[in-house]
Amino acid sequence: MKLFKVAIDGPAGSGKSTIAKEIAKIFNLFYLDSGALYRAFGYYLKKMGFDLNNENDIINALKTFDIKIIKNDYYLFNEKLDFQIRTPEIGKAASIVAKNPNVREKVNQILRNIAKVHSVVIDGRDIGTVVLPDADVKIFLTASIEERAKRRYNELIKKNKKVNFEDVLIEIEKRDKADSTRKIAPLKPAEDAIIVDTTGKNIKEVITEIKNIILKKINLE
Ligand code: DC
Repeated sequence: MKLFKVAIDGPAGSGKSTIAKEIAKIFNLFYLDSGALYRAFGYYLKKMGFDLNNENDIINALKTFDIKIIKNDYYLFNEKLDFQIRTPEIGKAASIVAKNPNVREKVNQILRNIAKVHSVVIDGRDIGTVVLPDADVKIFLTASIEERAKRRYNELIKKNKKVNFEDVLIEIEKRDKADSTRKIAPLKPAEDAIIVDTTGKNIKEVITEIKNIILKKINLE
């Protein structure tokens, strides 16, 4: 049976992971969160007391980095990764290590190995451009920066985090800049990606829109 691959890329707070998880359920695809792998690696470096900007430390950490993906859960050695990789500090660490080509190669290998044997939906920044250039469907999700900051802010408040809206907005602005201006695999839509602007739309509307794009593609095959 031919495997089916969906790439969902977009900036921080565009709703990629929420949407990708739902799409995985609807079409029975293996959901992979590529950002979680960069976060896990940043977390591992910090935990080991390594320097995020030191090439030797990165090379050493890559040799021992052992991540397992079981269903939707990520395990670093035997530690289940959850809230500890979702902090702003680890988000920043992920953005720093994501600039390193050796780290990107390792993450890409993990993702491609799974995509070789499973139908997948992967969310990230470079899935349609670099990781799965042959994906059957490529979606690029966007939303205005204010709306993305509002979503992140509400998410953090729900988790009882003390945050200020202006700080969240500035953080998102900084991450957008870092992710889109880096030399290797910058955040940008693939030439054949379908751009879906989610500003002013609720999750249900976005899921229906993407579901219809995928169904159209399946019917054409
Ligand atoms: O999607 P996220 O916030 O969990 O991603 C964390 C960081 O990892 C983000 O700053 C950019 C980086 N990343 C990347 O460079 N390429 C990907 N495919 C996914 C994430």
